[in-house]
Amino acid sequence: MSTVHVITHPLVQHKLTMIRDKDTGPKDFRDLVEEVSLLMAYEVTRDMPLEEVEVETPICKMKGQTISGKKVGVVPILRAGLGMVNGILRLIPTAKVGHVGLYRDPETLKPVEYYCKLPVDVEEREIIVIDPMLATGGSAAAAIEYLKERGVTHIKLMCLLAAPEGIQLLQREHPDVDIFTAAVDERLNSHGYIIPGLGDAGDRLFGTK
Ligand code: PRP
Ligand code: URA
Repeated sequence: MSTVHVITHPLVQHKLTMIRDKDTGPKDFRDLVEEVSLLMAYEVTRDMPLEEVEVETPICKMKGQTISGKKVGVVPILRAGLGMVNGILRLIPTAKVGHVGLYRDPETLKPVEYYCKLPVDVEEREIIVIDPMLATGGSAAAAIEYLKERGVTHIKLMCLLAAPEGIQLLQREHPDVDIFTAAVDERLNSHGYIIPGLGDAGDRLFGTK
């Protein structure tokens, strides 16, 4: 069974409350989502392996540590996942970015795929799938399935908010994928929106409603 990591750092929680606020407009919403993504990326990468290297300071030589192991790939689920990309890239500037385009059919709540472009060496990378919202879990599960079909073996999911229903689905379909979230909310409403949630993440990021 995968682990759900709830990032309780005060800065993350403070900013998440501002993101939830219905009076936060698109510019502040975008800035805050980027900032929280950067802070969360710090936790998501906590288990990265290190190796010893020699470095010469202005004073003398010493053994330092450097990140080793698999390179990182970041895969936002379009569109709302785009809002989290820059925060992560500020911490991991060498990460390659793939895109998976999915939207949730408003009637069936099932994900519909419309775009995909991944790094050529995607299967050699540790992939962080990003999407602010894990609601029914259908979109994240489909994106992860898509990556696995292309040979990816190391995947983490990073979101801002998760519903218990989405966590359950993801743990059932992808028990190898750890989930990193800033909060686990109460439940979904009859339209598949997270309660209390933050509304429609894509619309709030891009001002489309
Ligand atoms: C939202 C969100 C997730 C999905 C979550 O995207 O960004 O991708 O819904 O719901 P699920 O867990 O029930 O699948 P949406 O389909 O609204 O598309 P958008 O990002 O283009 O606005
Ligand atoms: N997608 C969103 O943007 N918000 C929700 O609450 C659920 C799915």
